[in-house]
Amino acid sequence: MMLRSTLLPLLALATPAFSECTRETLKAATSGYIAAAAAGNPSLWTSLSPSATYAENDTPTPLNKSVFSSPLKLDHTRSFHDTTACSAATELIVTNPAKPYVIHTRMLFTTTTTPPQITTVESVVTTTGDWAFNATGSLYWNSLENWDAIPLSDRDSREVIKAGGDAYFDRWNNTSVEIPLGTPCARLEGGAYTGNGNLAANTCNLGGFPGNIVVTNRRYVVDEELGVVDIFMGFPGLDRNVPARPAPDSHIFRVQHGKVRYIHTVSHCFTTRCGMTGSVPGM
Ligand SMILES: *[C@@H]1O[C@H](CO)[C@@H](O)[C@H](O)[C@H]1NC(C)=O
Ligand SMILES: *[C@@H]1O[C@H](CO)[C@@H](O)[C@H](O)[C@H]1NC(C)=O
Ligand SMILES: *[C@@H]1O[C@H](CO)[C@@H](O)[C@H](O)[C@H]1NC(C)=O
Ligand SMILES: *[C@@H]1O[C@H](CO)[C@@H](O)[C@H](O)[C@H]1NC(C)=O
Repeated sequence: MMLRSTLLPLLALATPAFSECTRETLKAATSGYIAAAAAGNPSLWTSLSPSATYAENDTPTPLNKSVFSSPLKLDHTRSFHDTTACSAATELIVTNPAKPYVIHTRMLFTTTTTPPQITTVESVVTTTGDWAFNATGSLYWNSLENWDAIPLSDRDSREVIKAGGDAYFDRWNNTSVEIPLGTPCARLEGGAYTGNGNLAANTCNLGGFPGNIVVTNRRYVVDEELGVVDIFMGFPGLDRNVPARPAPDSHIFRVQHGKVRYIHTVSHCFTTRCGMTGSVPGM
């Protein structure tokens, strides 16, 4: 008891050096991002550090030359907030036929400022000609899904959520890896949906993993409240015309009770439709 009461004031003194990465702070930042994207005005992005770096499809890009330099008519937004890694991610859908997009953006914060500021931003920006791209389809299938917050007593740990996404990518290099797929599970790949035959019985099972593709450079955002891990990474072999070059990619996994229930993917192609002629395999 004595020990406890003497330690507490010391701890209280030790913490204020770093500002806290709260869900509220992160939410304010993703709201600012969405407002800036809608207006086409990066200066509205209030949490952005003046020295923040931005990469679009793995290419460093000034924000005023990026997809965010002109207004986007946003039909859908969904954000994920990672208070442990102090990062966030947002999914955007723009169906505007003149300029359709599906965009996943990841932002990293520094906690050495109060409030935390965004220092690193990257987006996978997909449009016509990218893998399975169909913004209308993406919006439609997305609208049928439930991405509500998971009740506190049902939440998985960060490790369990992350393991669900990692198993999916590990499987590409090792066909013995078991992916914890739930039933139902649906994969929205660009605008193509595995659930369109029979939603209730769908399992996301792809079959046919090659077993020799190493998915590189995985970058994570984990949101325990939504049961989400968004993994940004490079996908070798996706673009048939340049198979050795890892395609810029993000997969959002929704995990519940340890099982993957939804997967949303965006993949940027270096050449039209990544060299695919027929429909996307496994759909
Ligand atoms: C774009 O931003 C850079 C700084 O990042 C600035 O030097 C340049 O003048 C801007 N260009 C335009 C057209 O606003
Ligand atoms: C895009 O998705 C919508 C909704 O599912 C569908 O009606 C449309 O045919 C799709 N377009 C293409 C080009 O596949
Ligand atoms: C990919 O698989 C090969 C062959 O089993 C293995 O040697 C290699 O370590 C694996 N790479 C990774 C990153 O898991
Ligand atoms: C492939 O995955 C299985 C199942 O997880 C594991 O036992 C095995 O060690 C893995 N092989 C390699 C080469 O990593």
